[in-house]
Amino acid sequence: MPDPSPLRDKDAVVFDAYGTLLDVHSAVARHAGAVGPAASTVSEVWRAKQLEYSWVHALMGRDVDFWTLTERALDHAMARHPEVDQALRPRLLDAYRDLDAYPEAAATLDALRDAGLRTAILSNGDPAMLARAVASAGLDDRLDAVLSVKAARTFKTAPAAYALVLDHFGIAPERVLFVSSNRWDVAGAAAFGFASVWVNRGGLPDEYPDLSPVCVIAALDGLM
Ligand code: LAC
Repeated sequence: MPDPSPLRDKDAVVFDAYGTLLDVHSAVARHAGAVGPAASTVSEVWRAKQLEYSWVHALMGRDVDFWTLTERALDHAMARHPEVDQALRPRLLDAYRDLDAYPEAAATLDALRDAGLRTAILSNGDPAMLARAVASAGLDDRLDAVLSVKAARTFKTAPAAYALVLDHFGIAPERVLFVSSNRWDVAGAAAFGFASVWVNRGGLPDEYPDLSPVCVIAALDGLM
């Protein structure tokens, strides 16, 4: 248990969705045999391009659906690997609609609520893709709010995206703990003024040294 607990004096624990509660690599993993030897590279490129497109569009001030960017990113990943059967595209997108939650996600959300905290998602995902993903992963009854940055017409790490949490809960930033597996997202939340926890499942080296998490955990249950 981290000392002092990052939960102390918090009212709400707000999670990133993709990569934090939901395993973005579970989509390709579900079809790994059909995709073939390029499976893990395709999954990495798919994710990297999805994120790159979100940041580029946010900087341009263009409002575009995250689902559209997710489709375009898969198209790019598959174009880089023409040996992968193009007929898999709809199956991979369907799998992305219903990603697996990390095994400890549900129990962690339940434990936080049992401890009197409110739980939420703040995600770059569109409202519809989030609603489906959260329901199919069995997390919908465990969250007090599922907030999409769509309401701010930008993407994280724009401050306006993080501000949606304060608007929704009507609380000060000091009362929020933000949790993400994405180090860039931890940096964005810290820049906004949230205490942030980095879920570093892969033991990656740290980045953004001036925008640090308050603690680093290896899995979501490290919060409790
Ligand atoms: C999210 C992704 C981009 O905001 O990690 O859920």
